[in-house]
Amino acid sequence: MKKITIAIDGFSSTGKSTLAKELAKKLGYAYIDTGAMYRAVTLFAMRKGFINNREFHAEKLIEALTDIDLQFIYNAQKGFAEVYLNQENVEEIIRSLEVSNFVSQIATLTEVRKKLVEQQQSLGREKGVVMDGRDIGTVVFPYAELKIFMTASPEIRAERRFLELKNKGQDIQFDEVFKNVVERDRLDSTREDSPLIKASDAIEVDNSNLTKEEQFDLILQMAQNKI
Ligand code: C5P
Repeated sequence: MKKITIAIDGFSSTGKSTLAKELAKKLGYAYIDTGAMYRAVTLFAMRKGFINNREFHAEKLIEALTDIDLQFIYNAQKGFAEVYLNQENVEEIIRSLEVSNFVSQIATLTEVRKKLVEQQQSLGREKGVVMDGRDIGTVVFPYAELKIFMTASPEIRAERRFLELKNKGQDIQFDEVFKNVVERDRLDSTREDSPLIKASDAIEVDNSNLTKEEQFDLILQMAQNKI
């Protein structure tokens, strides 16, 4: 069977990674969460004091980029690869609202994007990959055989993310999550380098009114038609 590249882009909290993970499992493909890579770089920058609520020393982060080693290591129990920052498993800690509040600023930096895009292209070289993010169909794999662009209303997305974080035991308010979702979309869509836009050949899927199962079946069918 032919192996293809599947690019899943879209706004924050549209359920891209849940879908991408399930699709990869079903097809026996690798799954790469590129948002996790931007989040891990953000965690690194926060720990070094390069970014906080008052300051952002972009030049210091750029200088230190060679000190950042990112790896994906498969966790058989969970059934997907987790992200490691300099040999530390940071899969959980990078999902905090604090990291979410800084990540889109970090993602505006061309030097950061260049480093991560190179690694993403290398990880997907052999095809047989489902990659989710914001610029996969436009920049990372412009020749991907299947490109999906996921959307849903901001309220629905914030509600889903709020419940997810709450279930993980995080002490948060809905308003904070809503503000973060809207602000991230604004920054991601308006940045100069690789803004979040739908690739001209991507298929838009608005999942506001779709169940997870309906959405999965729809996209699996699209993938199977290409294989
Ligand atoms: O997908 P996730 O919400 O974890 O992504 C976190 C952030 O990382 C996004 O809001 C965006 O700023 C950045 N990102 C990006 N390009 C990607 C993936 C994520 O700029 N390919």
